[in-house]
Amino acid sequence: MPTPHISANPGDFAPAVLMPGDPKRAERMAAAILDDAKLVTQVRAISGFTGTYNVPGPFQGRPLSIMASGMGMPSIAIYATELFSIYGVERIVRVGTAGGISPKVQVGDVIIGTGAHTTSSMNELRIPGTHFSATADFAMAAAAWAAAAGDPKVKAGPIISSDHFYFKIPGQFDAMTTHGVLGVEMEAASLYGVAAEFGKGALTVLTVSDHLADHTHDMSAEERETRFTDALRLAAAAAFA
Ligand code: HPA
Repeated sequence: MPTPHISANPGDFAPAVLMPGDPKRAERMAAAILDDAKLVTQVRAISGFTGTYNVPGPFQGRPLSIMASGMGMPSIAIYATELFSIYGVERIVRVGTAGGISPKVQVGDVIIGTGAHTTSSMNELRIPGTHFSATADFAMAAAAWAAAAGDPKVKAGPIISSDHFYFKIPGQFDAMTTHGVLGVEMEAASLYGVAAEFGKGALTVLTVSDHLADHTHDMSAEERETRFTDALRLAAAAAFA
């Protein structure tokens, strides 16, 4: 039965889902890494595809779905909830971009988000009387880390999921830097909360697209694509973990 936001039928999704924010990116990813990709949903132009992972290696031939999340925590929570609760999805890996915060990361690096601080209240009421700790699935993070095979441009650590892209709270990013936060994005904390709610797995793999402390270095289109391909490989390893 289709859900309010996904027009697919039961069985249309693989247990492993890669989730970029941008529906056009989902389309390009499906064209690049899936054989026999079938469009399974397109409600609100949020395209979802299911096919067979075609990248040579240990996971080639495995079923994989790719669907966009849209931007922000409420949006990804809607899709993750429906995928986990109705469509039998077991693991979602968000693949996106982040703004670098820590001096330990540079533009072009890949961040495996092991935990996500947040400015959002979405997880606040999950466990009454506590502040929810939004963490990635350990086995999935470990699989992504193993797939990185010591690449010094891949970093694992905490990120922050922010409700705001433009508004900055004075001092907040300095404090984040002090506390070892690697980068900022807008979805992971809510995805991790939903995965915990349904006893499923989630991870976030991010390419650093810009750096809040250094606006001088920008990625060429080619570099952007190469780094994204690297990030995708790690994300797939986690999704199949
Ligand atoms: N803020 C939030 N999300 C982002 C950013 C940012 O600066 N850069 C890339 N994704």
